[in-house]
Amino acid sequence: MKILKLNNLRGEIKIPGDKSISHRSVIFSSLGNSTVEIENFLHGADCLSTVECMKSFGVDVKIDGEKIFVTGNGLSGLREPDNILDAGNSGTTLRLLLGLAAPQNFVTTFTGDGSLRQRPMGRVIKPLTEMGASIVGRNENKNLPITVIGRKNLRGITYEMPVASAQVKSAIILAGLYADGMTTIIEPAPSRDHTEKMLSAFGARIEKFGNAIKIYPAENLTAPEKIIVSNDISSAAYWVVLAAIIKNSAVTIKNVGVNQTRTGILDVMKMMGATIELENLRESGGELSADIKIFSSNLRGVEIGGSMIPRLIDEIPALAVAAAFAEGTTIIHDVGELRVKESDRLNAIVNEFNKISPRSFEATQTDLIIHGGQEKFFAECKTYADHRIAMALSIFGAAAEGVEIDNADCVKISYPNFFEVLKWEK
Ligand code: S3P
Repeated sequence: MKILKLNNLRGEIKIPGDKSISHRSVIFSSLGNSTVEIENFLHGADCLSTVECMKSFGVDVKIDGEKIFVTGNGLSGLREPDNILDAGNSGTTLRLLLGLAAPQNFVTTFTGDGSLRQRPMGRVIKPLTEMGASIVGRNENKNLPITVIGRKNLRGITYEMPVASAQVKSAIILAGLYADGMTTIIEPAPSRDHTEKMLSAFGARIEKFGNAIKIYPAENLTAPEKIIVSNDISSAAYWVVLAAIIKNSAVTIKNVGVNQTRTGILDVMKMMGATIELENLRESGGELSADIKIFSSNLRGVEIGGSMIPRLIDEIPALAVAAAFAEGTTIIHDVGELRVKESDRLNAIVNEFNKISPRSFEATQTDLIIHGGQEKFFAECKTYADHRIAMALSIFGAAAEGVEIDNADCVKISYPNFFEVLKWEK
């Protein structure tokens, strides 16, 4: 697909429901005892993988147009799947469901697509094994396929996580609900806390003390009648960046989730000099949302790292595009995690983004350096079938001289209507 150069970006842009919250809404609703209506659920391929897996566990999930209805059979109501569960491209599906499968009294086997089969799962298998679960991976790296030999009454543990990961944290929290004592997780830096917020709204007892989270075993969960998913800030990020870097732009994005653990992209764009306004701040189910307004801005390079990174981990490809249009150099430390996402994103950025803006992007094992203000060209770039690389390359091309990308379809993982906003041809 060929993305054409855009002269400006103006008006209101509709973005889809939040991917992280959509996954959790289906999984947690499956553990209550009533029917939950989920509004603004993201019908992206990743969340649909979660739906299919929950159906395999015997949960009743009905998709009715935009809405979905999930009827849980209680915390102990999951059934042994009669086939292998396929998490597709979705790390969130797989890691959260490993935590849910561990305390069941049956066996579950998971697989996934070519990308997910290469991603590290030892980080979630290790704490679950400490809790008493039996989990076997394909090789010593614990890659997929993975079989979980479930066991009731796991042990509550204290676990210090070596990397900040909401997926690993959520897996331990889910297993902790079924454990025979309290579980404590210590994070190196706060990762997204949708699991803690939503499970608390379901009546689970989860307490936070600094970087420690305590999970108490639960007898049952009480699901709300309705969950309204806010729009995904990770999807909004592409338009936040594009509006900032194209002249004469002014964009409004309504009802975006602005949970503090996710708003790093707004904070860093503001540090770079972007004009961003938040209006109509409101709360639903413990989650904050707001309308975001963003205007063309003159950006300058910044240096970030540490606890900022988990707050914008999925937005770094988009942020790298912003940095290429900024004056000066941007240094992003502590992003080694990008090497184990849907693709090696540091490698993808250096190999492909440099085709549009030569000599602009450098990476070490853990850091990304972007030299802003270099000349931009039309280029043919590879997406590595990674949705976030595809979308970042698309906005890069739209703000530069256009771009041709392969595997454009992969955006359906998190943002099926992404290309509606851009000008493109086959
Ligand atoms: C997610 C957590 C993050 C993020 C992913 C979604 C989640 O992964 O990159 O896209 O919904 O919990 P990690 O937990 O590996 O940091």
